[in-house]
Amino acid sequence: MKKVGWLLSVVFLVFALVGCSGNTSGDGKDGGKSQTVGLAMPTKSSERWVKDGDNMKKEFEALGYKVDLQYAEDVVENQVSQIENMITKGVDILVIASIDGEALTDVLEKAKNQDIPVIAYDRLIMNSDHVSYYATFDNFQVGVLQGKYIEEKLGLEDEDGPFHIELFAGSPDDNNAYFFWDGAMSILQPYIDEGKLVVKSGQMSFEQGATLRWDGAKAQERMDNLLSAHYSDEKIDVVYSPFDGISRGVISSLKAVGYGTGNNPMPIVTGQDAELSSIKSIIAGEQTQTIFKDTRDLAKKAVNMADSVLKGEEPDVNDTETYDNGERVVPSYLIEPVSVDIDDYKEKLVDTGYFTEEELQ
Ligand code: GAL
Repeated sequence: MKKVGWLLSVVFLVFALVGCSGNTSGDGKDGGKSQTVGLAMPTKSSERWVKDGDNMKKEFEALGYKVDLQYAEDVVENQVSQIENMITKGVDILVIASIDGEALTDVLEKAKNQDIPVIAYDRLIMNSDHVSYYATFDNFQVGVLQGKYIEEKLGLEDEDGPFHIELFAGSPDDNNAYFFWDGAMSILQPYIDEGKLVVKSGQMSFEQGATLRWDGAKAQERMDNLLSAHYSDEKIDVVYSPFDGISRGVISSLKAVGYGTGNNPMPIVTGQDAELSSIKSIIAGEQTQTIFKDTRDLAKKAVNMADSVLKGEEPDVNDTETYDNGERVVPSYLIEPVSVDIDDYKEKLVDTGYFTEEELQ
């Protein structure tokens, strides 16, 4: 009798335990404890994406999620197969910063078939109705801030010029690149039309300025060609660059022909992302400006979006009109970007804890 009673208690205990673990096995109602997030990032070659990945991983883990974080080194096929693997492994949600925004239609169809929601991170994924939400910055405003910086630095409202400018654009497979360009041109084009800004190369279209994969080496090569073909007798005053990696390539090219020495000052060179080496370059008087996009805020935003989706709640969005990916207007949250230069980098980057003074030495 005693033995039977003991046996019953064991059986009961086993059932209780199994039942209990059944409750925490990831039905989405347990605060995400055992759910997995697939994070597909484009490349480690640019410091910003490393920060984005690290920040998101930290935030997701703090909420109890497991994280599968992958980088594809700017090879589209790598990214597609990384996402395929995540789908096969059964991740609960995908957060993707695409390399080529137009290359993920098929793999997202697979995610759709498995009911795995997708959040586009910083870069919009095009041509898919399976992009649930988009977390990014106000990308048009990034270009406006870059254009306005040039306008103010040269005093274009009052000065007649003419000032010589050359224009670089981002990667044509990244939807953001068009927003940056359009924002910048909304400020600069009237001055070009008026003749206050002169593009000596005549290369004034997005396609002519485009830099595939945002590659600094390609930008350097183009800048070398522009300088030797159009600036052997006259100085260049401004280079519009949409991204720090491109700016660094441009600056190497300028230095190679003697800019930045004695009475041959660097032209104004804009940028974006407030990457550590570019802030050092600003401090050294080479790059002039960058756009600070706080990756900590973007990571938090994307993580909150994913968390809400997994809990069946409506994520917080502030734009439901701008980002049409060809299949649908993707509900988005846009964060405000901030312009930074030598005068305010301490206040904007050090005081906010983005970089320490030591890192900038
Ligand atoms: C864009 C992004 C920029 C910059 C660029 C190159 O999509 O919005 O901030 O990082 O890619 O990586």
